[in-house]
Amino acid sequence: MLDRSNELNAWDRDHFFHPSTHMGTHARGESPTRIIRSGKGVHITDSTGSTSIDAFAGLYCVNVGYGRQEIADAIARQARELAYYHAYVGHGTDASITLAKMIIDRAPEGMSRVYFGLSGSDANETNIKLVWYYNNVLGRPEKKKIISRWRGYHGSGVMTGSLTGLELFHNAFDLPRAPILHTEAPYYFRRADRSMSEEQFSQHCADKLEEMILAEGPETVAAFIGEPILGTGGIVPPPAHYWEKIQAVLNKYDILLIADEVVTGFGRLGTMFGSDHYGIKPDLITIAKGLTSAYAPLSGVIVSDNVWQVLVKGSDMLGSLGHGWTYSAHPICAAAGAANLELIDKLDLVTNAGETGAYFRKSLTQALGDHPIVGEVRGDGMLAAVEFVADKDDRTFFDPALKVGPRIATALAERGVIGRAMPQGDILGFAPPLCLTRDEADVVVKAAAEAVDAVAKSL
Ligand SMILES: Cc1ncc(COP(=O)(O)O)c(C=O)c1O
Repeated sequence: MLDRSNELNAWDRDHFFHPSTHMGTHARGESPTRIIRSGKGVHITDSTGSTSIDAFAGLYCVNVGYGRQEIADAIARQARELAYYHAYVGHGTDASITLAKMIIDRAPEGMSRVYFGLSGSDANETNIKLVWYYNNVLGRPEKKKIISRWRGYHGSGVMTGSLTGLELFHNAFDLPRAPILHTEAPYYFRRADRSMSEEQFSQHCADKLEEMILAEGPETVAAFIGEPILGTGGIVPPPAHYWEKIQAVLNKYDILLIADEVVTGFGRLGTMFGSDHYGIKPDLITIAKGLTSAYAPLSGVIVSDNVWQVLVKGSDMLGSLGHGWTYSAHPICAAAGAANLELIDKLDLVTNAGETGAYFRKSLTQALGDHPIVGEVRGDGMLAAVEFVADKDDRTFFDPALKVGPRIATALAERGVIGRAMPQGDILGFAPPLCLTRDEADVVVKAAAEAVDAVAKSL
């Protein structure tokens, strides 16, 4: 094939406005452009022919791995037969109806319907609207506030960027917007009072939530949204008994629970859903990423039977639902989703995420746990993170200007492995495809240990 890399590089800098990118350094050519050409299993290959292990599965989404012919074939078949028809006014396709059934069959108990969107962000927009609609139908128009958590990630739209509790996603965008509030992050490693046990810290988080609800007035608080395990905020598993204590508070004040399972849905924690893993009983569940393994953009809101009954009452009162996207339940994406879920079952990837994920985290802990700049190695299922500290005993953090996390991620990439410098804190994140093998995990761990050593020496 003709190598057009130079031309593409120039076009990229001159015309492509990239998401989540430093606009100046990219446009001026001060940071590298990497053009990705192909992928197979956990590997991706770029335009220079260099191959890496993608230990973040794109953006924790290519769960079945790259280059799966079954999904490509399903997409091609659907495109040939029927590329598009809408889902408004009761229309469906074989693919979208089948996929809705497959999702409910796999969802936690008590779930009833799937509303399809295209991204995690738009699914969370749908969640907010459904929660407001729900309370209007129930005759409590003042019950509208939504409580999220600092360090939660729920998207980057106007409302979903407000739900997100990360400064980068608020700065200079005039976010967060009302009526969205943030409560304490369940981040045990960064707890202020280091004498607290995990369970005491969970109780502290639940108490903080209750204080906020009482200060705002329980009659004004509609919903709480949380990822089962904090993702983009640092890959932080919940401390012991956290969800049990949070749910007790929500139940006390009749507040809906939205489990944002965009990362954890369809196997990442070694269970089909993170809600099953941590004993969460959500009213609404957000899904995206692993639903199609990102072979096509598709998201969804899974609605519990309780909420569904109220929504039905709403359209009996108000008429048809005034909410829809042109591409809701797009047949090509739905066909990709159905083929993807079949493949997850066929390859038993949920089991592998649990077993190989545990092996991977154990090896990472053995290799890095005692390193002088490593404060914590943590994770769950096929999710792991290494958090760096300037002083292990005092748990003091590096000056962000030193960019320790990004430098380690770069050093890792130079060794042929892609991890992710998480956006807030010096944290190296891993979320490999669920098909990762033990041998591949060993390669990732070895490269990570070398990268950490190399950067630690330079500090
Ligand atoms: C938990 C969670 N929710 C929502 C989103 C937003 O999804 P999208 O980027 O598809 O809009 C993400 C994206 O990373 C996520 O991790």
